[in-house]
Amino acid sequence: MDALAAPGGADTLDALMTRGAAFLGTRHAILGGAMSWVSERNLVAALSNAGAFGVIACGAMTPERLAEEIAATQALTDKPFGVNLITMHPQLAALVDVCLAARVGHIVFAGGIPPTPAIRQAKEGGAQVICFAPAVALAKKLVRSGADALVIEGSEAGGHIGPVSLNVLAQEILPQVRDVPVFVAGGIGRGEAILSYLEMGAAGVQLGTRFVCATECVAHPDFKRAFIRGAARDAMPSAQVDASFPVIPVRALQNAGTRRFVEHQVKVIRRFQAGELSKEAAQLEIEHFWAGALRRAVVEGDIENGSVMAGQSVGMVTREQPVAEIIAELLAQARAALAARRARS
Ligand SMILES: Cc1cc2nc3c(=O)[nH]c(=O)nc-3n(C[C@H](O)[C@H](O)[C@H](O)COP(=O)(O)O)c2cc1C
Repeated sequence: MDALAAPGGADTLDALMTRGAAFLGTRHAILGGAMSWVSERNLVAALSNAGAFGVIACGAMTPERLAEEIAATQALTDKPFGVNLITMHPQLAALVDVCLAARVGHIVFAGGIPPTPAIRQAKEGGAQVICFAPAVALAKKLVRSGADALVIEGSEAGGHIGPVSLNVLAQEILPQVRDVPVFVAGGIGRGEAILSYLEMGAAGVQLGTRFVCATECVAHPDFKRAFIRGAARDAMPSAQVDASFPVIPVRALQNAGTRRFVEHQVKVIRRFQAGELSKEAAQLEIEHFWAGALRRAVVEGDIENGSVMAGQSVGMVTREQPVAEIIAELLAQARAALAARRARS
């Protein structure tokens, strides 16, 4: 019998999480994926206080606003948490400086391949760098560029997504990338799935959708209600009408906004075809459709016209619960799966 295996399966689960938890400085190797407008001080501190790892979503915040949010989070928790920075932010270097000045231990670069100078700046300032790797070759390149850990996020996830499911990414990347801890994200809603990915070699997991209905989360009650009502099949990637006018794929609950987005694309493309708009102007008009739409849904509660970004695991969100209860539930499911397996063998 495995020396680490206790009757409840608890010790083995902890053993599987050891590398990820040590990297994060947490009790559990569970990251709360940064969600713009959602992952602010309250949810982030609640996650870290519950033994997971909260991550502030910087989004479009200015450096001053980010400094304020970090300080407010530090006032609510003395546990480690990270900051997620979008690589195309025009003040990326200043944002990294804000994180370093506040002694944030982990910086997550999202929304594209991070520039090597930004990685270097973060590392030289003493932070651990976490990057998103959408494919094996890129994963290896990011490790060579200095990434201390990677997140692989499957297309099941909420928000901006790549084309490949976590099921496939995990098989492609986990056996090949051993030098740094790899965290997996996308579609995880229960502990059994967490256990499976850990057993495949993941250092830990990142969940977003499952934490939106946390009691501590400040999202508008109607945004939370949409999650509680939503089924996996309602969380769809944004539709693209014409390949010459690419649409950034975002997984969100279908609503009046997503339906109007299709009509909007058709109208804009017709104006381009009639010579009323240049190709660039048409592309911009298509992209502008969703400007401010996530804030409208999360903060104002306009779940019909806003962007209700949600992953396919939304069907497993059934009620509002405190973060600590969600984490405990996930861990209990993973441990029960381990115990059941042991009972069979
Ligand atoms: C409402 C929402 C907003 C998100 N915003 C961001 C973001 O600002 N930056 C980012 O890197 N990921 C963002 N994500 C992705 C999450 O960090 C996380 O990786 C994802 O939710 C994991 O998949 P899951 O939703 O299936 O759990 C967002 C996800 C959601 C649902």
